[in-house]
This record gives sequence, structure tokens and C-alpha cells, in this order.
Amino acid sequence: MNKHNILITGGSGFIGTQVLYELVEHGHHVTIVDREIKQEDVPAIIFEEDYYDFFKTNRYRYDTVIHLAAEHLVEQSVSEPEKYYTNNVIKMKGMLDCMLDTGIKNIIFSSSGNIYGKQGQYGSLSEDKLYYDPENPYASTKVAGELLIKDYSKAYGLKYVIFRYFNAAGADPACRFGYVQRPATHVIPILCNKILKGEKFPIFGTDYDTVDGTCIRDYVHVADLAAAHTKSLNLFNTNKANQTFNIGGGSLGVSVQELVQYAGKIVGKEPKVQESSRRPGDPAILVADIRKAEELMGWKPKYNIRDAILHAWNWEKKFETGH
Ligand code: UFG
Repeated sequence: MNKHNILITGGSGFIGTQVLYELVEHGHHVTIVDREIKQEDVPAIIFEEDYYDFFKTNRYRYDTVIHLAAEHLVEQSVSEPEKYYTNNVIKMKGMLDCMLDTGIKNIIFSSSGNIYGKQGQYGSLSEDKLYYDPENPYASTKVAGELLIKDYSKAYGLKYVIFRYFNAAGADPACRFGYVQRPATHVIPILCNKILKGEKFPIFGTDYDTVDGTCIRDYVHVADLAAAHTKSLNLFNTNKANQTFNIGGGSLGVSVQELVQYAGKIVGKEPKVQESSRRPGDPAILVADIRKAEELMGWKPKYNIRDAILHAWNWEKKFETGH
């Protein structure tokens, strides 16, 4: 495989760090830009800056940009859409313009399973058969990002791989890094943190039209998700880019209630729960059909939900207690 000179925007986050190590382990050269660098000792050139400011003022030449930088909280997007459209759409358009000026032609874009919205109720979601149905502004900005890339591709020759990430979960299997956002804003880190502290874990909504009334999501281990990025580079090398893929865990989905049960068994401690009201913007069910990624990239997940919870738990203990 050709070695790429890669820029990761949002490269210091939970997903970005895992992607960075995965790429470096495959011999690629990596630069990261992030508005908050959480770890300095990583094998990359680092810029601590907003991604659009970086592009406005720098004209470095990369083979490929992996665009992860984004506002990404569903509930917050409902109350603060302006922030989401500015950071996820307007700045992204500016970045694409700078990329074209500099002659950077390849982009891997992190879209979201959230773009399917209510269609999740009808079974697993397939990339080329279903349409955009965003239920919250976060998902709307991901739809806008996808459309922007596709139109720029047709007109200006940009080459793309769009990944619709479902719910990234777990931590580095070797426990070198993991989720560091505090307070945690995603379900598995919140659950692990609450168990560790003996506090109550809130279940947001128990009256959804699902088997047990709680939301169903498709959790994909962050190491598997990172592996999809290295696999996809080959599509650029072989002129087979311009594809959109779901990146999910390959399961039939896991409800919030099931997460609580699995975590209790894995950790050996019954989580305390508190049934709460629905969180604004949450679709009931989002589960990916991931066959296309296997067919075109030879990618499929190695880890299951239990691995993801175990690795997230190991990381949470290390992060919070130092061991
Ligand atoms: N949840 C709880 N209690 C909590 C936190 C979350 O019950 O304390 C529930 C949510 O209501 C939701 C599920 O757990 O039903 C998952 O919630 P997350 O916040 O972990 O994830 P989301 O599904 O909202 O969204 C995430 C990312 C997005 C990404 C999406 C893909 O935030 O960036 O997954 O579906 F696009």
C-alpha cells in the first residue's frame, strides 16, 4: 500500500487518537490539528488550532485529509444549532476551498449514522438504498457535509470516502488511550464512570417503541473504526474512491438497558440506574448494514460490544484512578 502524508482534523479526540496510532502503525506520516491537544507525546506533528484557522494560514501539502473535527452532541445541537452550522458546515466549506487551492484532492469525512433518522425503525440501514432523514441539527450538518463533498467532487475532482460512523465505543485494547472528555457525554463512558463512583446512571427514555423501551444503537469498537480508515486509503490508491460506507459493529443493535446489564456482568457490580425522560433529538433505533464496507474494502469488525465495554471500563479505571 502507498504511504500517505495525512492530516487529521480533530486528531486529538477519542476517535482521532486511535486513528492516528493505526495509521502510524501502517507506516503513514501523520499531522494532527485540534483546538485542544489532550496528549502531547503522540507520533505526529501537532498543531493546536481551530481546523479552519489552520487551513486559512497554512499551505502544507498533504495527500489526504481525514476530517474528524466537528461539534458532535445530539442534544446540544437542538439548543445551539448556530454553533453546529458554523463549525460543521461553514468552516468545512472553507476548508474544502483551501484544500483545492493547495492541491489536496483526497478527503475521508466522518459523517454519522444519525443521518438516517427514523428509518432505523425499519431494520438495518443500507447506504445506497436509504435517504437522508435527519432528526436533529447535528445530523443535518452531517448531511450538509456529505452533499458539499459530493458536489465538490463532481465539479472540482475532489476524491472522497464518507464514513457514516455509528456509535464509537471502547478504548485502545492495550489501554494506552481512550475517552477523556469530562464530564463524559457518551453513554458507555458515562455508564463506566457512574459505576466507578457508585452513582446513578440515567436512562434517557424508557417509552420508545423498542423491545425494552430504551433506544437501540449500533456500537462499533473504536479500534475497528480506526482500521476502516487505513483500509479505505487503498480506495484512493486504486481509483475506487468516491464511496459512502456505514461503519457499525455488525450486531443487531444494543439497547441502553442491555448496555447496563452487560456492564454489570463485565464489571462485577450492579449499576444503579435512574429512569429519566427522553433526550431531545434522539432517534429510537440506529443499526447499520455494514456489508458494503466488507465487500469493497475487506473491512469487518473484530470486537463485539462486550469487548468495547471491557476496554472502556479498563480505560476509565486507569484514567480516573491511575491504575
Ligand atoms: N444515553 C442514556 N444515558 C446517558 C447517555 C446516553 O440513556 O447518560 C442514551 C442516549 O439517549 C442514546 C444512547 O444512550 O439513546 C446513545 O447516546 P450517546 O450520547 O452515547 O450517542 P448518540 O447516539 O446520541 O450519538 C452518538 C454520537 C454522534 C454519532 C452517533 C451515531 O454522539 O456523534 O452516535 O449514531 F453521530
